[in-house]
Amino acid sequence: MQITPVEGKTFGAVVTDVKLDDLDDTGFREIKTAFLQYGFLLFPAQFLSDEDNVAFGKRFGELEFGALPMSNQRRLEDGSWGEMIEVDTQRMRTNIGNEAWHTDSTYRPLSSKCAMLSAVNVPDEGGETELADMRAAYAALDQATRDRIAGLSAFHSTQYSQANDVGDFPPQDEKSIYHGEAYLRPLVKVHPETGVKSLFIGRHAFCIPGLARAESRGLLKSLLEFAVSDEARIYRHRWQAGDTLLWDNRCLLHRAMPYDYSRPRVLLGTRIAGEPESELAYYPSDPEAQAGRDALAAELEILREEATDRMFGATTAARR
Ligand SMILES: [Fe+2]
Repeated sequence: MQITPVEGKTFGAVVTDVKLDDLDDTGFREIKTAFLQYGFLLFPAQFLSDEDNVAFGKRFGELEFGALPMSNQRRLEDGSWGEMIEVDTQRMRTNIGNEAWHTDSTYRPLSSKCAMLSAVNVPDEGGETELADMRAAYAALDQATRDRIAGLSAFHSTQYSQANDVGDFPPQDEKSIYHGEAYLRPLVKVHPETGVKSLFIGRHAFCIPGLARAESRGLLKSLLEFAVSDEARIYRHRWQAGDTLLWDNRCLLHRAMPYDYSRPRVLLGTRIAGEPESELAYYPSDPEAQAGRDALAAELEILREEATDRMFGATTAARR
């Protein structure tokens, strides 16, 4: 196995001479060590099946989901890819929302440990995935900013981010990701396996308790802008069919890049859940959940007015 750091970047490595569908424990340990060190790993030309994606993902922990199409094309019963999904659907509104920087599942009780995408079919232009190194971003902060954010937390909700980024207000449903809860997480995350601190922010974060709304929004915006202001902390992956990309959701942000939505873009997504010791905020049944629920409801009420000029115009997503 060859592990080659990405040139000119603070993070990332390309792993070659390895077959992820035929990996012994020694090989996996080597990959796990590199993953913790580099933050993301690219494995070109793997062409993993659904089962391979699931099996490799499970080596990192419990799955939130495995080999789920992150796609603008419907998958047919026989596994082939059928009709394109229209832009004016909840699925595509959600996909387009993910063109803003985020880390996965911070809007769930347990945020994600790591995630994988495997490319099946990709457009010639656009549709890249970008990653950003939040360890390097934290390390580059001045001491005054570090002191300021040391004790601060923000709520996380994807009802907030959909509304704020794209003017999308999906119907609230406790069984969906639009469940009405918001989870409080520190702005600085200590990585449970490496001990390294990183900025834990992104599109789902809002309403820092103790700060006025404008101040909270301003701080979250300026931290994100600073974090992605240095090219050395950003990696843009131009997909080739067969690629598998694995990243650490505990210390990186990522986003999809826009593309022509009438062209197929099919990636298989696998997401590994965090550990209760380090990624659990609380459960909806816990008393502290009420503050998040209240903060989200108040924020959404404001955004229904503020977000009417955004992409989907504060739609209630009634159509689908
Ligand atoms: Fe994501």
